[in-house]
Amino acid sequence: MRNYFYITTPIYYVNDKPHIGHAYTSVASDVMARYQRLRGLSCYLLTGTDEHGQKVAKSAKQAGETTKSFTERFANNFRTMADRFNITYNDFVRTSEKRHFLCAQAFWRRLEKRGDLYNKQYEGWYAVRDECYYDDSELVDGKGGRRVALSGAEVEWVKEPSIFFRLSKYRDSLLFYYDAHPDFVLPNTRMNEVRTFVENGLLDLCVSRTSFSWGVPVPERNGHIMYVWVEALTNYLTGLNFPNDTSSLFNYWPADLHIIGKDIVRFHAVYWPALLLSAGLELPRRVFAHGWWTNNGEKISKSIGNVIDPLKLIDNYGLDRVRYFMLREVPFGEDGNFSDSAIMRRSNDDLANGLGNLCLRVLTLVKRGWNGVLPSCGEFTSEDRALLKIFKDEEENFKKKMDICLFHRALEGIFGCLAEANRYITKEAPWALLSDGSNEDRQNKKTRAGTVLFILCDCLRMAAIDLQCFMPESMSRILDMLGVDNSDRHFIARGKRLHEGTELGDIQAIFPRLNKKEVPNN
Ligand code: MSP
Repeated sequence: MRNYFYITTPIYYVNDKPHIGHAYTSVASDVMARYQRLRGLSCYLLTGTDEHGQKVAKSAKQAGETTKSFTERFANNFRTMADRFNITYNDFVRTSEKRHFLCAQAFWRRLEKRGDLYNKQYEGWYAVRDECYYDDSELVDGKGGRRVALSGAEVEWVKEPSIFFRLSKYRDSLLFYYDAHPDFVLPNTRMNEVRTFVENGLLDLCVSRTSFSWGVPVPERNGHIMYVWVEALTNYLTGLNFPNDTSSLFNYWPADLHIIGKDIVRFHAVYWPALLLSAGLELPRRVFAHGWWTNNGEKISKSIGNVIDPLKLIDNYGLDRVRYFMLREVPFGEDGNFSDSAIMRRSNDDLANGLGNLCLRVLTLVKRGWNGVLPSCGEFTSEDRALLKIFKDEEENFKKKMDICLFHRALEGIFGCLAEANRYITKEAPWALLSDGSNEDRQNKKTRAGTVLFILCDCLRMAAIDLQCFMPESMSRILDMLGVDNSDRHFIARGKRLHEGTELGDIQAIFPRLNKKEVPNN
């Protein structure tokens, strides 16, 4: 089995501040990266910023700033977002960096060498917002009879000398690849859309611009810069030191997973593999397209003024609540809606009641009855064995769901187990067993209470190991409280057990209940 896992986020346009959609893609990618590392794989997570193209150049101009200082400022915002969201990226590529120019140009030369580039005048529609060429069939009538793209983006008529890539030549090879890898694009509905798009025939792609200069120059072709998407996609190679494909970093290629939003599937599932085929490089193994967030049911847009600032969410709710909410609330792959009441509900029902409260109850009782030292067990009842089995068996289910990015299902599974643990503690009522009685009776009851609490601690340990990828900081605090050694926090160690006599850590409240008034800016 290959011991490497390479995962990427899209690189973000630096025309504006980060919003919830950007944070979402990055959090999902980070959860997957952490999961792969917990499985013991060497995982490389790449993120970065997409700094060229007309859209960014226009925004800089509107702000009255030089493109260089504008992009610098916004790229820093995205780096801050990644850091504040606890994204464990291994590298952050800015497409304005020299190494990226070298990579994109070396990649271009390969297309050229393959004979896949030719000169032709481009005459047609272009949407600056999407940085995308559209043909007539992809346009509709917008306000005032103006043509707009189906995505809602305004289009303009462009006529300029260009270089074209023989995309049409790759139609059959792409279809062959999709057939051989039916899960190349997930969810399946997206794979079907891609297949239909390719089956309907591919036009050659315009890959250079001459009417502006904010981009990577085409090698040996004065006046031409690369079409921003072609160049941006090669960031996934820049991050691995391409064109130096003999360095050990290149062992991570091909990408195991590109996580992207549903709006950019065509670029990743059609253009990118075709370009890679032309360049003679292996194709990515999977592209997962997630859905879009709305705000209280409305499309998020700057003009409506309802953009959700992801850093404010952290200030309001705390990082791990936000990370959990993003991946639990919305089935990954579908659209979802943000509202303060929804994040409050998830925080209180799942995290405070389901998990935090259970931890607190269990650990407080161990402190009260055993001075914070994990008690030894008496004989197990069938209920004890049943609960342990539920948590043990969940490992398989968890991994199955995680492997195909069904994050919400993986979380649902763990929280289902925690609900069982809550039922168990209520039924066994260990607190009642720690009360007075005759001497012998007291001892027997205490042994039983110790067994129940030991089992619950072990179940919490297994849940916390799984949940680390979603809520790393809080889970590490739970594992500290349970006295779990750092070296025993991987999946390989999940099958072990806690040790009787272990001194538990100081008790801290995890996910205290939120009350509306305490949430600032709410
Ligand atoms: N620069 C390109 C990607 C190039 S990758 C080689 C780009 N950038 S973007 O900043 O516009 O978008 C980045 C990601 O954010 C995309 O995956 C997009 O789907 C996602 N989102 C933008 N708005 C979103 C929501 N409202 N909800 C969820 N994700 C959304 O595209």
